Amino acid sequence: MSEYPDVVLVTGAAGGMGAAHARALGARGVHVCVADVADPAPVVDEIVGDGGSASAHHLDVTDAAQWTAVIGEIRARQGKLGGLVNNAGISRRLEFMDTTAEVWDQVVAVNLSGPFHGMRAAAPLMRDSGGGSIVNISSISGQIGYFSPAYSASKWGLTGLSKSAAGNFAKWGIRVNSVHPGLVGTALLQGADSFVKSAVDSVPAGRMGRPEEITDAVLFLLSERSTYMTGSEVTVDGGLVSNGLYHRIVAESGGDLG
Ligand SMILES: NC(=O)c1ccc[n+]([C@@H]2O[C@H](COP(=O)([O-])OP(=O)(O)OC[C@H]3O[C@@H](n4cnc5c(N)ncnc54)[C@H](O)[C@@H]3O)[C@@H](O)[C@H]2O)c1
Repeated sequence: MSEYPDVVLVTGAAGGMGAAHARALGARGVHVCVADVADPAPVVDEIVGDGGSASAHHLDVTDAAQWTAVIGEIRARQGKLGGLVNNAGISRRLEFMDTTAEVWDQVVAVNLSGPFHGMRAAAPLMRDSGGGSIVNISSISGQIGYFSPAYSASKWGLTGLSKSAAGNFAKWGIRVNSVHPGLVGTALLQGADSFVKSAVDSVPAGRMGRPEEITDAVLFLLSERSTYMTGSEVTVDGGLVSNGLYHRIVAESGGDLG
């Protein structure tokens, strides 16, 4: 018996970290429901080409009706669902007064309302499947102050939503945890070279993370190796949150710590 659920749905899985999570699950014998607003077919073809099992689902996570339809498809075709990774997300690196009401609404709709709609739609099928594990991809921006209000507030909201859901769904045997990546090299950071270069100076590990390093945390939380974990925050950031400030101060002091 595998330590992973038989069927896992990953949102935002047509690219970036979501695709890495989907590929890793496919390689472990999981049927992966690859969902995205972008075309999920290339990732599905890759998983199937490598001998795995996957299905493509067009899904805009902001639309509750689309969630209902996708979960209905999974119930009809797979008959069960043991894992959900709410990975789809967008970032707008804008300071407060540059954040328009439209940007605010869009970022909150994808990053926070998306996982809310997703958990409401998926939890009953997960309950009927005997329980399972939900992994919500927040960010370190959902654990510390971050200059861009829409992104930070949506990710802090997702941190809290995960804890609320963990309490609610425990009775159905569904665990809910959040993962908080630091800087990871994907399309999300495209066009932000000087921001990234400066940010890496505050990372004790001295580099950005690779998508696969976030995947390892997601796999752990989906697996039977984490059956007593729910409502937890898992930070995967090369030490940025815990030590970034003094890492930078010590480096800039030029070794004069007297
Ligand atoms: N890259 C980073 O440094 C970083 C750091 C912390 C957290 N995160 C979070 O990790 C997650 C994945 O980010 P990534 O870096 O792989 O981003 P990415 O831009 O490479 O991929 C995001 C995916 O989400 C999809 N998507 C966007 N809006 C959607 C919608 N409304 N419905 C369905 N799918 C949608 C996109 O089509 C894309 O395939 C996001 O939630 C992001 O906020 C990323």
